[in-house]
Amino acid sequence: MPARPTVPDWFSHDRFGMFIHWGLYALPARHEWVMTREQRELSDYERYTEFFDPDLYDPVAWAKLAKRAGMKYVVITTKHHEGFCLWDSQLTDYKATNTPAGRDLIAPFVEAVRGEGLRVGFYHSLLDWHHPEYPIDGIHPRRDDPTRFEANETRDIAKYREYLHGQVRELLTNYGRVDYLFYDFSWKGDPHHEGNPPRLWNAKGNEDWGGEELMALTRELQPGIIVNDRLGIPGDLVTPEQYQPSRPMTLDGVEVPWEACQTMNGSWGYDRDNHDFKSVDTIVKMLIDGVANNGNMLLNVGPTGRGTIEAESQRILGEVGAWMDLHGRSIYGAGPSGFTAPVDGRYTRRGDRLYLHLFSWPPQHCHLPGLAGKVRYAQLLHDASEIHFAEIPPDTQAVNTGMGGQPAGTLTLTLPVRRPDVAVPVVELFLTPDA
Ligand code: GLC
Repeated sequence: MPARPTVPDWFSHDRFGMFIHWGLYALPARHEWVMTREQRELSDYERYTEFFDPDLYDPVAWAKLAKRAGMKYVVITTKHHEGFCLWDSQLTDYKATNTPAGRDLIAPFVEAVRGEGLRVGFYHSLLDWHHPEYPIDGIHPRRDDPTRFEANETRDIAKYREYLHGQVRELLTNYGRVDYLFYDFSWKGDPHHEGNPPRLWNAKGNEDWGGEELMALTRELQPGIIVNDRLGIPGDLVTPEQYQPSRPMTLDGVEVPWEACQTMNGSWGYDRDNHDFKSVDTIVKMLIDGVANNGNMLLNVGPTGRGTIEAESQRILGEVGAWMDLHGRSIYGAGPSGFTAPVDGRYTRRGDRLYLHLFSWPPQHCHLPGLAGKVRYAQLLHDASEIHFAEIPPDTQAVNTGMGGQPAGTLTLTLPVRRPDVAVPVVELFLTPDA
């Protein structure tokens, strides 16, 4: 029986992290998969290294932005599928030190994030569209290249594996403590691709990466590290992407830790002409919904080629932070409640506190099934103003000025007419010891 996936307490306490997708793809600025979407020739795509000059790169500002938003950990792409490395790897020349950037970009990032008291995570692509030994496959930029089969005759995945493991050793040895490793991704035998056989040609997974060995190496070099589930073998958590699970996640019927990774606008890498940003309350609702279902959220930013984070992302993170300033205790250290929330509401619970998150503002009253006799006191969380509540016995006759009875066990809140001016209003309910 495989070990049950578990994460350290800090992870299920902190709930909210920043994902950073940064690389050469910030220059074409049209999605991090641009190299394969446009099936770019390697020599053509490599030219971006001449122009990668993030002169405004300020990792302290990035870390402060994450902290401002209420995020507790930050995960950066060390290398994405394009194969370009942000750190000074001794195993390749395809790296930031060989561009106008002229330095290791990961070292100052790690220092800055720790400097803000946040935890450090690395995203590392298992795929590598630049490496000469990486066999061409159905999602590779050369997938339609007539010479692909011939090319693969001389490509040796074992040599690529050695490179992959060597780079992971560098990353987990040279930058101190790393709290989270987000490998990406395996698609061999992935049912989601069945409808698209070309994508499955030469698909890769555990054996290709040496998943078990890489997992063992990762844990040996960083004993307390969290490793995700994309090596083609089980990890410490599952990582739904760009969707919000509608209930706690399970594997073989066993509940498992999870973290949803979400973009702000559909693209992970900086996408200049994409203005399809989610609203602040949508993002706050996704975070709440996740915690109510015992999950974390990793929210992405895609810095530009100058090393800045675009204004819209900054604005949104600032406003999410404003909500977290007032409502953080309904998220940090909170989780599922075991109670059934009213329509358009979500519950998160932290000890004897139950948080009712109201996604739409009810007209004056809100009926809470199963909470009668379980609540000592209630208040709006943003300003600690008292909220009245009562039980209306089921046999109570409705009259002109009086509401009729509610199903047994229901607690009825009386809410102010005016919706509080916050992204999502929250009622904090103080539970009785036996609730
Ligand atoms: C997917 C995307 C990849 C992105 C990752 C983030 O695998 O293809 O570009 O980095 O998700 O979770």
